[in-house]
Amino acid sequence: MKLLEDKISAEGKALSETVLKVDSFINHLVDPVLMQEIGKTFAAYYKYKGVTKVFTIESSGIAPAVYTAAALGVPMVILKKQTSKILSGNVYQTNITSFTKGTSYELTLNSQYICPEDRILIIDDFLANGEAATGASTLVKKGGAEIVGIGILIEKVFQRGRKRLEDQGYEVRSLARVSKLAKGIIQFTEADL
Ligand code: G4P
Repeated sequence: MKLLEDKISAEGKALSETVLKVDSFINHLVDPVLMQEIGKTFAAYYKYKGVTKVFTIESSGIAPAVYTAAALGVPMVILKKQTSKILSGNVYQTNITSFTKGTSYELTLNSQYICPEDRILIIDDFLANGEAATGASTLVKKGGAEIVGIGILIEKVFQRGRKRLEDQGYEVRSLARVSKLAKGIIQFTEADL
């Protein structure tokens, strides 16, 4: 998606060879016009795939996910990050360890917001090691539903996320694919959408 690549080139900052800072339009200040265009782009690709719900992981996935859900005319579900296990029967949980941030949390879904007939589209802002998306897919499986696809805003192609998700049989579609990060350098390879 050229609009997103242009925004990353203009405002993104490579903090290291692995971390891209995008606080001024995704992670802190949110550009709603860009998010709406992202939503439309995902919806154009997924509109004939029978998506019934869009799932995302709090917090930075919420903006693009809600615009995607609105464009598809379906609800959006936020998978919550809880610090500890909830010992009641009405939630599905799975433990996630973030390699980038060195943190760990219980990704949580209330079982009333998924049913076996659901066809789920997962949307998230970054694909690094695929931990978050793998966790989201675990919760979808616990709910007995199907994953239609995984839509990503920024994929870091030099990390193992895509391979890990494709090895599990999921289709990944990324709007921007970053192939190299270094001081003052952000390089892209061809995006999916
Ligand atoms: P993974 O899910 O692909 O394995 O990623 P990882 O655990 O390594 O990353 C965990 C968190 O760090 C996620 O945010 C992810 O979006 C973010 N992240 C990963 N790589 C980058 C990067 O290069 N730049 C930025 N800005 N973020 C990155 P999170 O903890 O879920 O936070 P948030 O959604 O509340 O923002």
